[in-house]
Amino acid sequence: MKIVVAVDNNWAIGNKNQLLVSIPNDHKNFRRLTIGKVVVLGRKTLETFPQGQPLNGRTNIILSRDESYKAGDAIIVHSVDELLEKVKAYNTDDVYIIGGDSIYKQFLPYCDEAIVTKVDHEYEADAYFPNLDEDSEWKIVDESDDETYFDLDYKFVTYKKK
Ligand SMILES: NC(=O)c1ccc[n+]([C@@H]2O[C@H](COP(=O)([O-])OP(=O)(O)OC[C@H]3O[C@@H](n4cnc5c(N)ncnc54)[C@H](OP(=O)(O)O)[C@@H]3O)[C@@H](O)[C@H]2O)c1
Repeated sequence: MKIVVAVDNNWAIGNKNQLLVSIPNDHKNFRRLTIGKVVVLGRKTLETFPQGQPLNGRTNIILSRDESYKAGDAIIVHSVDELLEKVKAYNTDDVYIIGGDSIYKQFLPYCDEAIVTKVDHEYEADAYFPNLDEDSEWKIVDESDDETYFDLDYKFVTYKKK
């Protein structure tokens, strides 16, 4: 399984249940990676999407502990174990963990690749991703050139588990 995440210089990922920044080319890259694939996300992240609806053109698997929770045509699972069982039906390379905070932390041990958008800024934040640069289990295998959105620099960095 793979992780897709956008972080700032402090590995912050969100504030007050919102993303820190919206960069059109980052959304485009996210769509390119995940279209036709399986995306795994927490109930709170789903509710930040437009109309709280699952992502089109992808199999959405949502984690919630609420046994009666429903969200469009998404598959709902209620525990880490149930998710791990459910994704056995798919090619593991086609499964993308897309957040948020609690889901990243629980599934990082099961992932072997992380595609990280690094935004060169420091935002006010209340949600963070583990710093992979300080984790000896992970190494950088690919790094894009710096890209710019107005006055913001960002780049795409791919990490793999050693
Ligand atoms: N920068 C990025 O790339 C990025 C991407 C995605 C999200 N985010 C940010 O991340 C933040 C949200 O993170 P979050 O941790 O608050 O919410 P979250 O991880 O999206 O969702 C948390 C919810 O998921 C369910 N859940 C979590 N673990 C579960 C488990 N083991 N079994 C069953 N259900 C489980 C629970 O739902 P119930 O309460 O329904 O039981 C829990 O309340 C926001 O700020 C968002 O913008 C950032």
